[in-house]
Amino acid sequence: MLLNSLHKQPTDKILALMAAYRADDRDTKVDLGVGVYKDASGNTPVMRAVKEAEKRLQAEQTSKAYVGLAGDPAFSDAMIDLVLGDTVARNRIGAVATPGGTGAIRQALELIQMAAPEATVWLSNPTWPNHPSIINYLGMKSSDYRYFDSETRGVDFDGMLADLDGVAAGDVVLLHGCCHNPTGANLTLDQWNQVIAVLQIKGATPFIDIAYQGFGDGLAQDAAATRKIAGTFENALIAASCSKNFGIYRERTGILMAIAKDADQAALAQENLNYLNRQNFSFPPDHGARVVTTILNDPELRADWEAELEETRNGMLGLRQQLADELKRLTNSDRFSFLADHRGMFSRLGTTPEMVEKLRADHGIYMVGDSRMNIAGLNAQTIPILARAIVDTGI
Ligand code: LMR
Repeated sequence: MLLNSLHKQPTDKILALMAAYRADDRDTKVDLGVGVYKDASGNTPVMRAVKEAEKRLQAEQTSKAYVGLAGDPAFSDAMIDLVLGDTVARNRIGAVATPGGTGAIRQALELIQMAAPEATVWLSNPTWPNHPSIINYLGMKSSDYRYFDSETRGVDFDGMLADLDGVAAGDVVLLHGCCHNPTGANLTLDQWNQVIAVLQIKGATPFIDIAYQGFGDGLAQDAAATRKIAGTFENALIAASCSKNFGIYRERTGILMAIAKDADQAALAQENLNYLNRQNFSFPPDHGARVVTTILNDPELRADWEAELEETRNGMLGLRQQLADELKRLTNSDRFSFLADHRGMFSRLGTTPEMVEKLRADHGIYMVGDSRMNIAGLNAQTIPILARAIVDTGI
């Protein structure tokens, strides 16, 4: 029988944690697991501009017929503008809408596999667990570069450069454009420049995953490194997600951009990207993309979206500072000041899986086993609870 020969698949630790949290009936439980923004009441709201754009679509949309394999060109234009500004001529970019950021990563990896089946894809250690998972599924080669310093909880930049020295010409290096997932530790612009110089010397292709633009230091600031890369290299791949900054997680809205050396190469890349979409799912989801396009192209909606995103970003920065302050008060030390320096939705606390398990069992605090915390899962009530639990657990 066909299905008898299936075997069990490795569980995704983030999704397993979501399920464990749901099954816990303690009313004091705190969810710092999956990367979904939550407001002070624990809700993941639909953003105001998204609601308004959906109302307009509902009233004005006259057809649900297929759009095109690459999605709506207006979506690509608006997203290229949001992520890259005017750093690269539009005719040097091939772009396809994808089902979320994950879809963009998957299509990018398949494009790499078609163009350079022997290339090694270099990943930060640690990285988002689905990066190596998809690479393994596709049977591609990968290697990793050091990234996180578990003493300082900052970037192990010397380790990173030492490991990138092993990159071969033609390899692909996957970098988090901003708000590194899972650590929250990020490169400075000067460090980015050094990484860019190394990749140029090595003849490697950069591949940027940018899933949290606007969650770190601001929309333009968070895209600065991506823009620098796009403007420097003849070839680069950029996977961008709209899940978090537009709060449209379940609509599956993302884009893959391929930067080419000239218009002819971009046309070839575009043809291949369209082909890949066709093989995997035909037409990409449209609703979220249309909402995003409506917002980005309407000055009023865009201003409101940017304002709400800014409130969200500042809220997370406030939570970081409060948690760092509370831990400073309880420990009488600066050991946890890194929490205020990290950026984005996550911080890696830098403790053992045993301690993470103790936090879950004894205090109902759920974080990923590598001690990644979703900062947006906190609020004024839960910060003192978490800080006390961290200290009581002996972290
Ligand atoms: C996360 O890292 O928690 C998010 O990107 C959600 C996911 O799909 O894992």
